[in-house]
Amino acid sequence: MKGKIPSIGFLAALLFLFSTCTSTITEKSLVQSPDQHLTFNIGKDHQNLWYRVFKNDTLLIDTSSLDIAFRHLSVSLGEAEIIAIKHTSKDTTWQQPWGEQRLIRNQYNSMFMHFLHENGFRYNLHVRAYNDGIAFRYEFPDKQPTDSVTIIDEQTQFAITENPTCWWIPGDWDIYEHLYKKSRLNDIDATVYRNPPLAQSYIPYNAVNTPITMKRDDGIHISLHEANLTNYPGMTLRRDSLKKGFISELVGNDEGIKGFQKFPFHTPWRMIQVANKATDLIDSRIILNLNKPNQLGDMSWFSPMKYVGIWWDMHLNRRTWGYQGGNHGATTAYAKELIDFAANNQIGGILVEGWNTGWENWTDPEQREGIFDFVTPYPDYNLKQVAGYAQEKGVQLIMHHETSAAPRTYEQQLDTAFKLMASLGIHSVKTGYVGQILPQGEYHHGQWMVNHYRKVIKKAAKHKVAVNAHEPIKATGIRRTYPNAISREGLRGQEFNAWSADGGNPPSHLPTIAFTRMLAGPIDYTPGIFHLSLDPYKPNNQVNTTLAHQLALYVVIYSPIQMVPDLIEHYQNQPAFAFIRKVPVDWEESRTFAGEVGKFVGIARQERGTENWYVGAITNEEPRTISCPLSFLHEGNYRAIRYMDTPNAHWQKNPEAYAIDTIQVTAHDTLDLNLAAGGGIAIRLEKTGKQ
Ligand code: NOJ
Ligand code: CA
Repeated sequence: MKGKIPSIGFLAALLFLFSTCTSTITEKSLVQSPDQHLTFNIGKDHQNLWYRVFKNDTLLIDTSSLDIAFRHLSVSLGEAEIIAIKHTSKDTTWQQPWGEQRLIRNQYNSMFMHFLHENGFRYNLHVRAYNDGIAFRYEFPDKQPTDSVTIIDEQTQFAITENPTCWWIPGDWDIYEHLYKKSRLNDIDATVYRNPPLAQSYIPYNAVNTPITMKRDDGIHISLHEANLTNYPGMTLRRDSLKKGFISELVGNDEGIKGFQKFPFHTPWRMIQVANKATDLIDSRIILNLNKPNQLGDMSWFSPMKYVGIWWDMHLNRRTWGYQGGNHGATTAYAKELIDFAANNQIGGILVEGWNTGWENWTDPEQREGIFDFVTPYPDYNLKQVAGYAQEKGVQLIMHHETSAAPRTYEQQLDTAFKLMASLGIHSVKTGYVGQILPQGEYHHGQWMVNHYRKVIKKAAKHKVAVNAHEPIKATGIRRTYPNAISREGLRGQEFNAWSADGGNPPSHLPTIAFTRMLAGPIDYTPGIFHLSLDPYKPNNQVNTTLAHQLALYVVIYSPIQMVPDLIEHYQNQPAFAFIRKVPVDWEESRTFAGEVGKFVGIARQERGTENWYVGAITNEEPRTISCPLSFLHEGNYRAIRYMDTPNAHWQKNPEAYAIDTIQVTAHDTLDLNLAAGGGIAIRLEKTGKQ
C-alpha cells in the first residue's frame, strides 16, 4: 500500500501499538496532514515522551524522545501527565507584500496536548501536520513553580530511519559559510570543537546545522530545520551515537548556558519537511506558514530591487574599504558613476561599502569595540551629496553597517544611525558581523545574538528600514512577521570565488543550495559575474560556472533584492546584460519543474503584475539536457528569449561562451534545455498576444 492513504487497518495497528505502550495515549494523540499522507503520533512509556512520523505506512522518524533539561527545575517532560488534548484545523490563504509567490495557502491540522506535573510544572506540545511537513514546538504557559528557567539543553530527537543520503554543513556556532558535503547519514563527520566551561581541552562532537536535507533510497526527501527562531538559541543537530538520526544541540555560550527564559515562552517550531521529490521541497511554503502574520502593516515604503555596488572592487582587491592608502572605493565620484549606471539600466539601488570611519582596524581580534562609526563618512565621500544625487536619478541608496561582530557598539548607535538614514530617505541597510562575537564567549547563533539580530530588525522597522544581514542568524521565516527582514547571507556567497584559497564555490554549490539553505528563506548571493576569470585582479581565482549559469541564478535564487555586482566595464557591450536589465525580483508564483539535490535545478517564475515568465536552470559539473514543459504559461503566444551556453561552453575551459536566440512558444510546447558542464540557461518569456 506504499504511496496510498493509510488504510483503516494501518491506523488500527498504529493505535494498537499505542495501547501497548501507554495507558494515556488514545486515538486522539495522533494528527494527520489534510491529505492524510503524513501522520505524527505521540506516546509515553516509562516516563519517556516520544513521537514518530509516518508517510503513509512508511516510518520516517522512529520512536524519538522529546525533552528539555532545565537547571534548578528537575522535571523531565515525560514525568508530566496528559490532562487534555485539543484538535483544530485551518485552511486560509494570505498574501505576501512581495515574494516568490503572492498568495500562500496555509492548510493544516493541529493538536495541542496539555501536560501537568505533580509539582505544578505545565507545558503544551503543539503539533501541526501540513501536506508538506510536520512541525511541533514546546509551549510553557505561566503559573509555573518558578518564574524563569535556565535551559541546559533541549533534547529533541530525530531518529531518522534507514540511512539516507544527506547534504550538510557542520554545526558551527558562528558561521554557515561552509561548503555542503554529501554523505550517508551514518557517515556524517561534521566535527565541531567546543570549549565548554571549566574544560581543560576542546571536546569534539559531531553536529550539523539546519536546514539539513536527506534523500531516502525510496526517493522520499526530508529536510530538518526550525521556524520562528525567537528569543531562543539556534538549534544544531548532533549525531545520536546510540540511536539513528540526531538529537538537538542548542548553541550556548562559554558559561555553559544555552538559554534563559521567563515564563511564558515557547520554543521555535521543530520542522520536518517531507516531499515525494526534491523539487517539492523548494515549492513548499511551510516555513512561512509557521510564522505569525505581518506585524508591520503597510510596507509600501520598500520596493524589491536589483542593486549595483562598490563591493566587488574590494573583493577583487582593486579598491579598499578603508580610506588610507589612496585606493579608497567609496568616493563621491565613483558612487555617482554607479548611480548613473543603475539609472540607465533599470537597476533600483546602489550599495556603498567602506563609506564610514573605522575600517582601519576592523579585523583586529580584540580591539573591535567602539571602532565603527555609523554616521561619519570618510572625507572623500559626501554622503549627503550622494544621497541627493541618487534621489534625483530615482535610485535607492543602500546603507552599509559592518559591525565587525561588535554588536554592543552597533546597538549604542542604532538610533542615530537609522535617524541619519531616515533624514536622507534611505530605506535599506546591509549589515555585517565579520569575526568572533564581542563579548568573547557569545556566538553568532546563540540566544544573545538571536535577540540582537531581532532588535535590529524591530528598530529598523520603526525607522522604515529594511535589513539584509550578512553573517546573520539563519532564516526561519520571520520575514512573514517582519517583512523588512528582506534577505540575508548565511552561506558561502559569491565573494568566496574572489578570494577563497580552496578555489571557491564548485559548480555543484548552487544546485545544492537550492535544496538546502534556500529552504530557509531569501539569499543575498550576489549573482551575475560576467568576467569569470577575474583577470588581472585575481590570477589564482575564478568563478566556477558559465556566464549563462550566473544569469540563471537571478531566477533560481529567490530574494527581493539581487545584486548586479560585477565591475561596470564587464557589462559593457555584453548582449546578455539585457536579461539582467529586465529580470524582476518580485513574483506572482514560482514552480520548480526539475531538479535533484546537488545536481541540477530548474525554476519558472511569473513576474508579479504581468503575464511574463522567467525560467532559470543550472547544473553541476555534469552537462545535461533538462526538459521544461511550458504548461505554466497562460493561454496565448509568447516570445522566448533564451540566454544559453554554447555547445562548447564549460565552467573551467570556456565559461564566457553564450548564445542568445528568440523563438515563439505557447503553453503546449516543451523546451529541451541544454546545459554545459557547470552551465545554465536563463529565459525571458514575454506575452505577445492571443493565440
Ligand atoms: C562580509 C560580507 O559577506 C561581504 O559582503 C562584505 O563585503 C564584507 N563582509 C565587509 O562588510
Ligand atoms: Ca560573508
